[in-house]
Amino acid sequence: MITRREWMKQAARVTAVAAMPGLLDDRALAKTPVDGIQTITGEGSLKAHAAARGLLTGCAVNADLFQNDETFRNQLAEQYNILVPENCLKWNWLRPTAETYSFDDADRLVAFAEAHGIKMRGHNFVWHEALPRWFAGTVNKDNAEKYLVDHIHTVGGRYKGKIHSWDVVNEAIWIQDGRPDGLRTSSAWFEMLGPGYIDLAFHTARETDPSALLTYNDYGIEYDNDEEGKKRAAVLSLLRRMKKDNVPIDALGIQSHIHAASKDGFSKGVRELTKGAKALGIQVFITEMDVKDDGVATNDIGERDKIVADVYRKYLNAALDGPEIKAVLTWGVTDKNTWLNNGTKFRKEHPDRPQRPLPFDADYAPTPAFFAMRESFDKAKKR
Ligand code: G3I
Repeated sequence: MITRREWMKQAARVTAVAAMPGLLDDRALAKTPVDGIQTITGEGSLKAHAAARGLLTGCAVNADLFQNDETFRNQLAEQYNILVPENCLKWNWLRPTAETYSFDDADRLVAFAEAHGIKMRGHNFVWHEALPRWFAGTVNKDNAEKYLVDHIHTVGGRYKGKIHSWDVVNEAIWIQDGRPDGLRTSSAWFEMLGPGYIDLAFHTARETDPSALLTYNDYGIEYDNDEEGKKRAAVLSLLRRMKKDNVPIDALGIQSHIHAASKDGFSKGVRELTKGAKALGIQVFITEMDVKDDGVATNDIGERDKIVADVYRKYLNAALDGPEIKAVLTWGVTDKNTWLNNGTKFRKEHPDRPQRPLPFDADYAPTPAFFAMRESFDKAKKR
């Protein structure tokens, strides 16, 4: 078992070595922070640089890594001031049967965060995915409202006062389903409860935990192109309608799964969202950032990392140019565990080219994306 002190020495060694490029092979060079000597802990950590601008910074936590990898847990405590569970607060993880709940993984993570003075995000109360196998055969039009309300009361009630912000509803907009308001109809919740499930969920969440910031979370709203422009407009009109109807909502989550190979920009799109949210008096969080680079021509790791870092820098500089965004979370920490490499389709297409979409590589060494994030935090307006 590696002790904290040994872990810190190892981190310092990694940093010190980075100062002597001649000693490193190509792969190791790829690990070299682009500008040489830098501490990445304490004052050099992501959370220290973010906090200096009034920002929260965090990541999605994979329950298995959290359970079995002490270096992973050390990294969480060292680098972040807010965490979100990647999966263990979803219906399929929490609800092994219709009558029972399994809170072990979530309890452990919430306790860890409390012990380290780290805030927690909840993800998510209502989503058309990650529903348990028993759901379709058990939940129907007659009992769906009861299941939804009971779930939010039970899960939200268990962590009452311990959650900074809940993703109450996730990904409820899908323009392709053809509704004028853009609502996703290809959702069990919409099929059983109609569009009213969204307001029901937010009202129930507010009565359950009045201290949590209630968030609507979505993706595909970042880029300056027609398709994402339409989805952005639908998300903003949903938020406006909710505010008009006094539905309790406090924040918008922009997932920010970004593609390095995309030719589209994102500064206009993100500014539209943050300005639109500000006009409604709601906060904005970047909730699930990662930068995938399949489609980027080169296979050279140093070049790929530089391209990914440039996208982090451009996106965060655009997003943090205004004061609206209060938190920046990445969807994972280390390249050794990212949903982007887990998909069977991806593995088949790119067996020898795993993604490197996150601020730390598989050995927990900082990637150029780490330094790009830190620089963007330093450049950000104080919130
Ligand atoms: O843990 C089980 C393992 O025991 C089993 O052997 C394996 C094979 O079926 O499945 C494992 O569970 C998988 C879980 O990830 C943990 O790896 C689930 O099948 C798989 O569906 C689940 O995928 C998650 C996905 O959401 C669906 O819930 C991804 O990890 C997670 O990164 C992804 O996150 C979503 C956000 O919630 C919403 N926004 C997009 C984002 C990426 O898709």
